[in-house]
Amino acid sequence: MKFSIITLFPNLINSYISESIIKRAIEKNSIDVEIIDLRNHTTLKHNQVDDYQLGGGKGMVLMPEPVVNAIESCKKENSLVVLTSPQGQTWNQNLARQYSLKYEHIILICGHYEGFDERILDYVDLELSIGDYVLTGGEIASIVILDSITRLLDGVIAKDSYINDSFENNLLDHPVYTKPINFRGKKAPEVLTSGHHANVEKYRQEGRLRNTFNKRPDLLEKSELNKLDLEFIEKLKKMKGDK
Ligand SMILES: C[S@@+](CC[C@H](N)C(=O)[O-])C[C@H]1O[C@@H](n2cnc3c(N)ncnc32)[C@H](O)[C@@H]1O
Repeated sequence: MKFSIITLFPNLINSYISESIIKRAIEKNSIDVEIIDLRNHTTLKHNQVDDYQLGGGKGMVLMPEPVVNAIESCKKENSLVVLTSPQGQTWNQNLARQYSLKYEHIILICGHYEGFDERILDYVDLELSIGDYVLTGGEIASIVILDSITRLLDGVIAKDSYINDSFENNLLDHPVYTKPINFRGKKAPEVLTSGHHANVEKYRQEGRLRNTFNKRPDLLEKSELNKLDLEFIEKLKKMKGDK
């Protein structure tokens, strides 16, 4: 999969993709990341890409010409053009999964300052937000989208590592432990060192249900639960009621 990221701050993107799992995904050709410097796509003097807001008010606005030129420099027939914006559809794991299967080329446009000239919307497929808050620029949002898709692509990380991650089947992940077995008097659950796989799996499924029940009960309504899961949730409800 290819990502083209249009930005005023190429170094911000470069530093993230030069480390860890994303770096390895690029080395293994699982993804290709093209960083497009918006300032290379203006025809104005001093590489100008923004101007004052018409009608008055504080904050510079990104002009349509450089942004549309930058999109056209990399857009292909199968490209999805995404504008990062707090006004967009909220990004989540389900979308990351869908995009990882559906698209071959995603163009991510990072805004800055007051945002984009509204006419740029005619050249994008959709706006995506990473949450209900306002960032100074779209670079973090682009990286969130790129990272969450990339880790779901074949061969980037072991499938076992993500199939039980939070939000799979609308459940949160179970608690995890490592060494030492005894940390300042608090021991890791014995079942995890018992070597009994069925009991470990039961412990983990109950951990997923407990975490979701305690931290994100809204998700439970959307998850597909079997009889044993439902019985365990009833037990949790009763215990909560008894407190
Ligand atoms: C200061 S924001 C502009 C906010 C705009 N004036 C508004 O209130 O809708 C500058 C840029 O940061 C990015 N951005 C800010 N918050 C974001 C969010 N929650 N999700 C995605 N991108 C965001 C967008 O690219 C945006 O154009």
